[in-house]
Amino acid sequence: MRNTWPIVEVLRLARWAPSGDNGQPWRFSIEGRLRAVVHVGDTSARVLYDYRGRASWLAAGALVETAALAATMTGHRLDWQLLPAKPGDPPGLTLGFDLVPVQGLEMDALALEIEKRSVQRRALSGRPLQDVHRLALEQAAASVPDTEILWLDTLGAKARMAGLLWHNAGIRLTAPEAYATHCKAIEWGQRYSQDRIPDQSLGLDPLALAVMRWAMQRWERVNFLNRYGAGTVLPRIELDWWPALRCAAHFVLLRKRAPTTALDFITSGRSMQRLWLAAEQCGVRLQPEITPLVFYWYHKEGVPVSQDPGVQRRVESLCERMRRMWPDAVLERAVFVGRLGYGPSAGARSLRHELHALQGGAGSAWI
Ligand SMILES: Cc1cc2nc3c(=O)[nH]c(=O)nc-3n(C[C@H](O)[C@H](O)[C@H](O)COP(=O)(O)O)c2cc1C
Repeated sequence: MRNTWPIVEVLRLARWAPSGDNGQPWRFSIEGRLRAVVHVGDTSARVLYDYRGRASWLAAGALVETAALAATMTGHRLDWQLLPAKPGDPPGLTLGFDLVPVQGLEMDALALEIEKRSVQRRALSGRPLQDVHRLALEQAAASVPDTEILWLDTLGAKARMAGLLWHNAGIRLTAPEAYATHCKAIEWGQRYSQDRIPDQSLGLDPLALAVMRWAMQRWERVNFLNRYGAGTVLPRIELDWWPALRCAAHFVLLRKRAPTTALDFITSGRSMQRLWLAAEQCGVRLQPEITPLVFYWYHKEGVPVSQDPGVQRRVESLCERMRRMWPDAVLERAVFVGRLGYGPSAGARSLRHELHALQGGAGSAWI
């Protein structure tokens, strides 16, 4: 580690925490060698998938866990707190990070995976998880209190997930509200992207990618292709249906009780990140599949996902389908869904803003 200020080194690594659409909703105010205040913005007003800020809260949890792991590399423990919002603070969360020196502290080996971990959206091997790897993943997730994993790893369960994600993609690809989110999230013609998702990491073949790039320049084109050109078929197969079948397992991360507060989601985000890093350690790749759950959250609270009645009907039937797949006790406690399996690391990936670009207090230009 290069800098003499441990907090700077910790934040430099913590930046690699995952966030929805690589939005990196955090800004850091460094207040001393061992202290920073972190503002995590609420992107729910402009990102369809950040329902009530929950995806941002999960990302905040991933940031906390990543910082805690990075702290062990500097011989410190991370003490963090959720701070009360001050008048004039932008919407979102404020966290305090304090590093406490601990004599003889051993580095947590998961810290070595922080920069290697990345989402893999392409098809993986269908080979089942080795028992030793499954155990390592369960232990990693459960090292954060009140969390457990539901595995969906039989052929039938994978086929049901493939059907669910096919249905779900039909919503994502036809909702005008999702189009607005996707336009801002994808960086076209790129293998790497500092502030978005590079198109080459999406998992489409070059022809389908070219068609999608052309269509996404205007909503009218997307709408036309969807109506007359069966425009959703190829992306649904390549992005959702086939990868859902080609993996070792899908999983649902469950809280002991239904999550409601920011703290519940932060805690779950910590667990999600430990699971993801442990997977990387085992040579297992992971892709979040959170959007059906997000649509379920909208539905449960009676909030429409879309102003388009056809899309809204598809959301209602998606939620019916989820109810048939899982008992209420699972749906109500679910915080995160994903798939994982053996395979190569992603050849294209999101990078991160430099640390100096993420520095700034409340009210700086991060909204
Ligand atoms: C809360 C959360 C939800 C996410 N949801 C999805 C998802 O539904 N589908 C997907 O492909 N990636 C999803 N991602 C992955 C992010 O797009 C990815 O982490 C981000 O672009 C940074 O890329 P990296 O993880 O490769 O560093 C999600 C990540 C987080 C933290």
